[in-house]
Amino acid sequence: MASIRLLAALVAGCCAMTLTLPASAQSVRARSTADVDLTARLKEVQQDPKLMESVMKTGQRVAAICANCHGDGGNSLKPDIPNLAGQNPTYLIEQLRQFADGRRRYEFMEGMIKAMSSDEKIGAVLFYSAQKVTHKTASNAALAAKGKEYFNKICWRCHAEDGRGNEKFARIAGQQPDYMRLTLKRYRTGTGPRVEPLMAASTKLMTDADIDAVVAYVGALD
Ligand code: HEC
Ligand code: HEC
Repeated sequence: MASIRLLAALVAGCCAMTLTLPASAQSVRARSTADVDLTARLKEVQQDPKLMESVMKTGQRVAAICANCHGDGGNSLKPDIPNLAGQNPTYLIEQLRQFADGRRRYEFMEGMIKAMSSDEKIGAVLFYSAQKVTHKTASNAALAAKGKEYFNKICWRCHAEDGRGNEKFARIAGQQPDYMRLTLKRYRTGTGPRVEPLMAASTKLMTDADIDAVVAYVGALD
């Protein structure tokens, strides 16, 4: 049922819900309104193994739709669409929140995200964060070596030495190259669809060549 509703939102490209849920499903969802504090609910789910199992199953069903773009298990096959595999749950939740409230924009996903219940969001996030990232080797070793130098001067401070981030900062290791390039340029601009003070400061002095090098290195990290 969840999948049909989301698919409808995806096809419609809009948040109008065309399908209604049976009463039983609605009562299960009673607390899953947009007002639920996602971070608190995530913690609650993580602390209860049974609840975690059922919410993750919900998430896996939802992920069948996301797979059209983000790939099976969140390893995207398209260089301009981000991996979700292995990403930190708190980061993913925050991004879903941003898409829903308009701080982050991507037209094609917005209707879907708005149509998701909080447990569908949390389930998808938990499912993706538990998946392994497929390793890619750097196609240009000399460029990646330059990128490593840059990374070790600046980026590791927040994203960690292995690029896997932590509870506070996004994993960037193995992230898709075109997506990272675009994202870094957006941060550098400091306006538009992705504004973030810490990343604006970190990218301000980057040249396009620096970005290409860092992307070559980070994209090939495990
Ligand atoms: C039509 C293709 C498409 C579908 C379907 C789709 N996404 Fe996305 N998603 C994208 C693109 C493209 C981006 C990057 C948007 C940008 O930053 O401009 C993205 C970004 C994201 C991000 C942020 C990732 C990051 O690293 O910051 C999350 C989280 C996400 N999607 C979750 C989902 C979930 C959950 C679903 C399924 C309910 C889904 N997406 C379905 C294309 C899609
Ligand atoms: C001072 C801390 C800090 C430093 C240093 C930093 N970042 Fe970030 N980075 C962040 C934060 C915070 C976010 C999440 C921002 C958001 O929500 O948009 C982020 C997000 C990103 C993303 C987006 C991830 C995604 O999946 O969409 C990329 C790519 C990235 N950083 C790359 C880099 C690179 C490359 C460097 C070094 C040049 C760097 N960062 C240095 C804090 C930092």
